[in-house]
Amino acid sequence: MAVVTFLSAKGSPGVTTTALLCAALWPRPAVLVEADPAGGDLLARVPAADGSVLDADHGLLPLLTTARRGLSAAQVLEQTQLVAGGSRVVVGLAGSEQAQAAGSGWSALARALREVSREHDVLVDAGRVGADPVHLDLLRASDVVTLVVRAQVSAVLHARERLRVLSGALRRPDGLLPRTGVVVVGDLRRHAREVADATGLLSAVGDWVDDFGALPLDPAGAAVFDGARTSRPERTALVRSGRALVADLVAASTGAAGTGRSAA
Ligand SMILES: Nc1ncnc2c1ncn2[C@@H]1O[C@H](COP(=O)(O)OP(=O)(O)OP(=O)(O)O)[C@@H](O)[C@H]1O
Ligand SMILES: [Mg+2]
Repeated sequence: MAVVTFLSAKGSPGVTTTALLCAALWPRPAVLVEADPAGGDLLARVPAADGSVLDADHGLLPLLTTARRGLSAAQVLEQTQLVAGGSRVVVGLAGSEQAQAAGSGWSALARALREVSREHDVLVDAGRVGADPVHLDLLRASDVVTLVVRAQVSAVLHARERLRVLSGALRRPDGLLPRTGVVVVGDLRRHAREVADATGLLSAVGDWVDDFGALPLDPAGAAVFDGARTSRPERTALVRSGRALVADLVAASTGAAGTGRSAA
């Protein structure tokens, strides 16, 4: 099993939606951890499996608060909740102050998530990553890192820069990188060329950058992961495309565990 992390650079909204989409379609037992240091959205966006509101007292904050004394996989699993659709999640923080206050708790969380990944795939919503990410150890502990990028010139340029920086920052002592790839979100019907160009530009950063495919801009599909009630979510373009993305990520995670590739 593996730790599969989703993140973005400036100009590319869609990380939480993509992580929720993948969690909903994931074919193996999985836990989605909302680890965006800017704060979480699940509490406000997604109902619990029984239709009630998710419990705000269960989630990442109690984990990071106790993490300095050591954190086990069992403690992480105790903080999970089931959401409508069946995914198992750890809801995120209230805001960036809590993320800063956690300090070395993030490193302990990274170790605990590796332990969780012995029996579950762990999907991590790491939010938008800039300079000096507070959760760098968590990113480094990933088997697969997926950069969500909008197919717009400015977003692609920011993503390229982020990939270059991450290729240094995520390198482990053994010289290897997590398996790293991009998923481009764009209008696949009217602007397929822009999506392909964006993917090409990002793949050109290095042969260590994988192409995890594309997702459509689909407001109706995205609304499913924003608390909207949709009668047939599986028919939306987003969910249909999500299956191919999940297949790619599962394949990458299977091939990637403990490997990574050397960067230029
Ligand atoms: N593929 C998509 N098609 C259409 N709309 C999308 C898509 N992905 C995300 N959105 C919409 O974009 C907005 C931001 O998405 P989301 O919350 O997933 O982004 P984020 O990167 O997690 O943002 P934040 O930095 O606020 O956490 C939401 O309104 C969401 O519905
Ligand atoms: Mg988000």
